[in-house]
Amino acid sequence: TPSRDLPELPLAGRHFLITSGPTHEPIDPVRYIANRSSGKQGHAIAAAAAADGAQVTLVSGPVAIPDPQGVAVVHVETAEQMLAAVTKALPADVAIMAAAVADWRASSEGAQKIKKDGSGQPPALNLVENPDILATIGHHERLRPRLLVGFAAETQNLLENARGKLERKRADWIVANDVSPETGVMGGDANTVRIVSAEGIEDWPNLDKTEVARRLVARIADYLKSQGA
Ligand code: C5P
Repeated sequence: TPSRDLPELPLAGRHFLITSGPTHEPIDPVRYIANRSSGKQGHAIAAAAAADGAQVTLVSGPVAIPDPQGVAVVHVETAEQMLAAVTKALPADVAIMAAAVADWRASSEGAQKIKKDGSGQPPALNLVENPDILATIGHHERLRPRLLVGFAAETQNLLENARGKLERKRADWIVANDVSPETGVMGGDANTVRIVSAEGIEDWPNLDKTEVARRLVARIADYLKSQGA
């Protein structure tokens, strides 16, 4: 037996559910629609939560980076699969939806590769809307986590869009980041975020994505403590 007790990690006993990466929506067996997302920010959050003692489920779309250590990872391709995996992983104390989910998918997936037909006319691509995973769990009566955090990657009207998402998707916090090409955030290692909540807006400096993750997780631990939850 140890001679003295180690201090308990701040998130011991908490279940964190995190989404990360893009989704791929098939058009035919060789083509898909996707958002640009490296998964770096979501994976860093999963790693930071695990390092602070949380039990972490990471639902990840297709990414080129390794699974974080000490995290249960569920790999999915499409938004519908991501929603199913998220629902299955609930309940959670905290959910952080960092995935860049494709808003639309092809209305039907061609069984065969679409070929040029020689007419010079491109094929029509019919799209249908994907389920909104954040909004679905935000509005879930039974399974809504105590703290629900969404992301808002925008190229314009960052704050208006973030506030709209708080309300429509019933999130508690939105981590808003400007992903205009000149910022280098997309695929890069750093991020400049603002935390938007009912209490107001917090501007964070430009930080490494791993540092954004550490601060976000620390802020969540403080929040849970302040709630006495
Ligand atoms: O509306 P927008 O896609 O920018 O919203 C971003 C937030 O909503 C992110 O937290 C993202 O993970 C989540 N989202 C989702 N399901 C969708 C679209 C977005 O969970 N279909």
